[in-house]
Amino acid sequence: EQVRVPIVAGNWKMHKTVDEAVAFVNEIKDHLPDPKIQETALAAPTLDLTAMVKAAQGSPLKVAAENCYCKNSGAYTGETSPSMLWDAGIHHVILGHSERRRIFHENDQLINAKVKAALKVGLCPIVCCDETMGRLINGKRVHWVVARIIDDLKDLTPDEVKKVTIAYEPTWAIGTGQSADPEQAEEGCYLIRQTIEDMYSQDLANQMRILYGGSVNVDNIDRLMGSNDIDGVLVGTESLDPQTFLRLVNR
Ligand code: G3P
Repeated sequence: EQVRVPIVAGNWKMHKTVDEAVAFVNEIKDHLPDPKIQETALAAPTLDLTAMVKAAQGSPLKVAAENCYCKNSGAYTGETSPSMLWDAGIHHVILGHSERRRIFHENDQLINAKVKAALKVGLCPIVCCDETMGRLINGKRVHWVVARIIDDLKDLTPDEVKKVTIAYEPTWAIGTGQSADPEQAEEGCYLIRQTIEDMYSQDLANQMRILYGGSVNVDNIDRLMGSNDIDGVLVGTESLDPQTFLRLVNR
């Protein structure tokens, strides 16, 4: 099996002004692990990104966007293009977060188009796969998760897929303080890896990084990240305070 470098990533969602974002980066940037051992990323609102990239220069912190559109220019009021992110020095973008799917009605077809457009300009997408408690109880989980991965990664070449990170985020665990237990989280990530193996190859599946997201905190991070198929975490609420985020990063 290949060694996958773990990632601890924050997702601020719609929190933090530019000044707050820069102060946060300045507070953490000299205390991050060697990126060869563990990568650190922060996804932030679009307006914060340019200032954060500047503040993070020379540090291992990867600044990520939380969304982008599937076109590089045109009459798409309110949207941000993949090429604009790239030009601003952003190399990572979250796509298909469950909040985008649920609140903004994004479907797999749009998410797949966004993934392709992001890859085309060089961005590494972090594609989120959601999941509900209802499906878990009804036994519909396998079908759901497999279908999300197949549809969201549709028509990607093996070289493109290598640049993708997947985040498994059960909706009942997001922002609730109720994390999936490590077995449930591991099962979800394992299922995703198996799907990648079926779509591509075992070798590629072994290289792929798969994260867990949903109420990750200082008490549960070690058990979650200790699981075989969980290569890192995507942290919402607990990424908002710089010292808490540092505790998650430096365990
Ligand atoms: O993308 C991460 C997020 O959805 C999880 O949020 O607040 O449960 O850590 P939270």
